[in-house]
Amino acid sequence: MADDIIEVKPEIAATAHIDAAKLAAMVAAEARDAEAFWRTEMGRVAWMKEPTKIKSVDFTGDVSIKWFEDGVLNASVSCLDRHLARRGDQVAIIWEGDDPNSDAKVTYRELHKRVCKLANAMRRLGVKKGDRVCIYLPMIVEAAVAMLACARVGAIHSIVFGGFSPDSLSSRIQDSECTLLITADEGRRGGRKVPLKANADEALLTCPSIRHVVVAKNTGGAVEMMAGRDHWWDAITSGEGETCEPEPMSSEDPLFILYTSGSTGKPKGVLHTTGGYMVWASFTHENVFDYRDGEIYWCTADVGWVTGHTYIVYGPLANGATTLMFEGVPSWPDNGRFWQVCAKHKVNIFYTAPTAIRALMRDGEAPVRKHDRSSLRILGSVGEPINPEAWLWYYRVVGDERCPIVDTWWQTETGGILISPLPGAVAQKPGSATLPLPGVKPALVDNDGNLLEGATEGNLVMLDAWPGMMRTIYGDHARFGQTYFSTFKGMYFTGDGARRDADGYYWITGRVDDVINVAGHRMGTAEVESALVAHPAVAEAAVVGMPHEIKGQGIYAYVTLKAGVDSTEALRKELVAWVRKEIGPIATPDAIQWAPGLPKTRSGKIMRRILRKIAANETEGLGDTSTLADPGVVQELIDNKVG
Ligand code: WT7
Repeated sequence: MADDIIEVKPEIAATAHIDAAKLAAMVAAEARDAEAFWRTEMGRVAWMKEPTKIKSVDFTGDVSIKWFEDGVLNASVSCLDRHLARRGDQVAIIWEGDDPNSDAKVTYRELHKRVCKLANAMRRLGVKKGDRVCIYLPMIVEAAVAMLACARVGAIHSIVFGGFSPDSLSSRIQDSECTLLITADEGRRGGRKVPLKANADEALLTCPSIRHVVVAKNTGGAVEMMAGRDHWWDAITSGEGETCEPEPMSSEDPLFILYTSGSTGKPKGVLHTTGGYMVWASFTHENVFDYRDGEIYWCTADVGWVTGHTYIVYGPLANGATTLMFEGVPSWPDNGRFWQVCAKHKVNIFYTAPTAIRALMRDGEAPVRKHDRSSLRILGSVGEPINPEAWLWYYRVVGDERCPIVDTWWQTETGGILISPLPGAVAQKPGSATLPLPGVKPALVDNDGNLLEGATEGNLVMLDAWPGMMRTIYGDHARFGQTYFSTFKGMYFTGDGARRDADGYYWITGRVDDVINVAGHRMGTAEVESALVAHPAVAEAAVVGMPHEIKGQGIYAYVTLKAGVDSTEALRKELVAWVRKEIGPIATPDAIQWAPGLPKTRSGKIMRRILRKIAANETEGLGDTSTLADPGVVQELIDNKVG
């Protein structure tokens, strides 16, 4: 099955932006003269001052990455103003509510107006270029408006996913010292309400940097408003003008910070800048999805993740697309919701995560077949490896064997897609992200950093920069170098392992560090561990990923209790609830095993390799356990495995 090849369909190649010959020409042109290649591509965004310097990159020493550095632009102008003459009345955002009876359409002209009004209000509240603004919103149009209004005034937005807890919100606000928070009364998901303002109020008890809070009225639920600090969105924007002078931003001025988990410590603030990111967002959105004028494009991600940043807002709007924003979940009111929305809005391009596909597969073909999917042309997958079985179901049942699937590999750090087939140019193999895009230089290295040639398996690195890559970790450039460029000197280390086949196709095998991917959500095992040990009953905790049929990986926690604490079922439930409260529901442990002892080396290091194998029921080849301080604990853990 893994060897299936789905050739490019001639009818798709004939009309696609890029066919195999064009792709080969692009790759060759980029290899011959990268600067000339990107000098042409930079025309995708609207510059106030055209750059003359294209690329200046050093992956060694202090690590410095600059693209189009002497150019000046404003991202909101590329997404809005320049479309007004031709597309003012075209729908920019189709909003589809959690409730199937609520939706809205916002034209480019209307969006521009709403962005300008909020941007003016933000300036009035004292927000200036370079200030950090936290956005904690549900999937409502206001989220896109808030992002673009920040860009308009040169403020750096930091979006925190609405499913994160008050603690997680607070630590992110603190780390980047945000001065403004934009939130809503409540969010809606799957028929339930999410108390965003109440969460924010709790978070703000420990956020002295916040001076103002703008609150969008979404559900109308009751909230407390603190006089002088909190302002209703409508009240504060209603009197503002409908135009707003965009802040001239240098290409390397920051556009946004987005926190993501690493293998150690607290989440890091991945920083993206303006020019290179916007060029990459536009380049990849147009080419990977073969986006054509007038098409309806739907990415099901949340704007709280990078996928939502690049492929709901910045990429599609830069390309003058109609982008669909969905507030709900795939399973509510029933498991046909995705396909009902596709039929209702005649979606042409649909981009979702493998975890959703696997969950829907379980319910069979009927909920899919019930809805008209004839508008669909391209299907996309992102967030984790898609197993061939799920790939083929997506292809056969959802796409009726008509729509190419683009399995897009990328990361928060990469800003946009790096490895993916182009629908009109690259034959697909179910389960493979296939080939790098032009300008992307992946390589596989062994654990000593030696480059591996041909068909092989190893650590996935990038040998050179592309315009959309992150520039630093906010406030900690040393950690940036340490995290990404020190494992393998002079190379960007992705943290992923991959196999490359004889055709040069990449097959991502998953993280090789202590990061796990739960339903496409990235989590540091260290974060879950520190949440667990913060509970008074817990002495020590070790968290690993375990295989999970739907979520890809589940969270498996080994917990050592303090002396005298009883390992009861009630305590187990309490710890699960505790982690949900500390981090958020996405970090809910799937299994907690009581561990009187953990396998440690004599120097005290926990041997996670062993814990991962026990959690995965792979206790046959546990490897060498002779270096353990107490080899006996391993058998104890195997005997008491949960599930
Ligand atoms: C990690 C990045 C990319 C935006 C959403 C996730 C995994 C992502 C794929 C794919 C196999 C994938 C990797 C990567 N991943 N896409 N198509 N095939 N693995 O962004 O939260 O920064 O996570 O997601 O392990 O390192 P993220």
